Amino acid sequence: MTSQQSPNRAKYHSILPIALACVLVLGTARLVFDNLKSNRESIFGQWQLWLRGGGFHRYIINAFDDDDNSYEDIEDCNVFDGKWVWDNVSRPLYSEESCPFLVKQVTCQRNGRPDKSYQNWRWQPNECNLPRFNAVKLLRILKNKRLMFVGDSIQRGQFDSMVCMLQSAIPDGKKSLHKVPSKKIFYAQEYNATVEFYWAPFIIESNSDHSTNHSVLKRLVKLDRIADHSKNWEGVDILVFESYVWWMYKPIINATYGNLNDIQEYNVTTAYKMALQTWANWLDSSINPQTQKVFFMSLSPTHLWSSEWNPGSDGNCFNEKEPIHGPYWGMGTNREIMKVVQETIQGLKTEVTFLNITQLSDFRKDAHTTIYTERKGKLLTKEQKADPKNFADCIHWCLPGVPDTWNEILYAHLLQEFYN
Ligand SMILES: *[C@@H]1O[C@H](CO)[C@@H](O)[C@H](O)[C@H]1NC(C)=O
Ligand SMILES: *[C@@H]1O[C@H](CO)[C@@H](O)[C@H](O)[C@H]1NC(C)=O
Ligand SMILES: *[C@@H]1O[C@H](CO)[C@@H](O)[C@H](O)[C@H]1NC(C)=O
Ligand SMILES: *[C@@H]1O[C@H](CO)[C@@H](O)[C@H](O)[C@H]1NC(C)=O
Ligand SMILES: *[C@@H]1O[C@H](CO)[C@@H](O)[C@H](O)[C@H]1NC(C)=O
Ligand SMILES: *[C@@H]1O[C@H](CO)[C@@H](O)[C@H](O)[C@H]1NC(C)=O
Repeated sequence: MTSQQSPNRAKYHSILPIALACVLVLGTARLVFDNLKSNRESIFGQWQLWLRGGGFHRYIINAFDDDDNSYEDIEDCNVFDGKWVWDNVSRPLYSEESCPFLVKQVTCQRNGRPDKSYQNWRWQPNECNLPRFNAVKLLRILKNKRLMFVGDSIQRGQFDSMVCMLQSAIPDGKKSLHKVPSKKIFYAQEYNATVEFYWAPFIIESNSDHSTNHSVLKRLVKLDRIADHSKNWEGVDILVFESYVWWMYKPIINATYGNLNDIQEYNVTTAYKMALQTWANWLDSSINPQTQKVFFMSLSPTHLWSSEWNPGSDGNCFNEKEPIHGPYWGMGTNREIMKVVQETIQGLKTEVTFLNITQLSDFRKDAHTTIYTERKGKLLTKEQKADPKNFADCIHWCLPGVPDTWNEILYAHLLQEFYN
């Protein structure tokens, strides 16, 4: 249960199809089905008035006057080494009700989840404190900039979290969220700051790239192709990448390298490595280290088998109400893939910051959306809810929740950059 050993290979085969089953259904077509309120507000008129009335100035001055000058130095601290502590005073950082941009997939309370304590845990590093999240400070850092999250539906959850963390500091009418194919774009007018999500579940090109029709049953990745995606990343100031669970369907995956007619089965670890190398080559030829900053999110763990933390049980993450305290490394958390990421990043010319959130998230068996979520754009039916064994989603996370912590860590790094 509390083993730190590498995943048991026998189970590798059985875990992945289930993981996929969830992703297939839950991760599909989300871009289109997100129950996004169309928040494209018509604000330009107001904006002009606001500017002329000196509102902009006042706002900025207030922002700089902000008395929270506390600044934690995380330079020499491993913020990923720590524990979850109960904190119902400062957590959650926002509520479902306070964030109009949240999508149905993640609003577990609204979807009927009876317990709420998953919102009240704060990540406490052992050797230092994370800086207190300050939306205005982050907006100032993002002024005239673009921050883009690239990846799959897990990464979209982190984007949604970031939008919620920022939006409360922006008055109504000065913020907007809209979608274009493959993208969600949040805009903070007064700061000319853009936070974006870009759908690329494998990072490189694949037949799952369509924003709505991912044709997932016969997956095909193009290991040496990235340009269709990367042209959308050119010049973005802060890029945050992630890709994991879509690779984990089977231990082998169909792929091309070079000739698009030459489809072959590749070992997933090998294919992942080749794909990341393609990404790495793009970074080294396109990123300007003076003006751009790149992050890579370590894999987001799944909690599909309760027997891993509760031997003898036969469930999944459903009905889990407490984090795991103490050493734990789940079998859905592939160390080989993590090693590939680490090695690829180390071989780069470009500096990429690896946000190693896997372990801290692996403790949070209590924080997934389970049955309090949707499939194909619809909340689960009563019958589906009564069958958590088949219908609980143990891949995605409720918001507010664990992705907020990932963003607090991202924030800590950006703050560090900004002050240096
Ligand atoms: C916060 O947690 C403490 C300790 O569990 C509990 O006694 C208290 O009632 C909680 N407060 C709120 C507002 O939930
Ligand atoms: C607004 O931000 C974009 C980057 O997102 C930048 O290209 C543009 O120059 C900025 N506009 C102004 C007026 O600074
Ligand atoms: C989805 O894509 C598949 C294969 O690319 C195609 O056959 C199918 O017609 C598409 N479905 C829709 C609804 O566009
Ligand atoms: C894939 O390749 C890796 C690294 O070479 C190896 O450790 C692993 O056992 C292989 N997996 C399969 C399913 O063959
Ligand atoms: C690869 O594609 C072939 C032909 O479509 C198919 O028979 C095979 O099952 C696929 N392999 C995987 C791992 O999906
Ligand atoms: C990431 O964290 C895991 C577990 O905490 C650790 O084993 C691994 O070495 C870390 N990777 C890097 C690159 O720091």
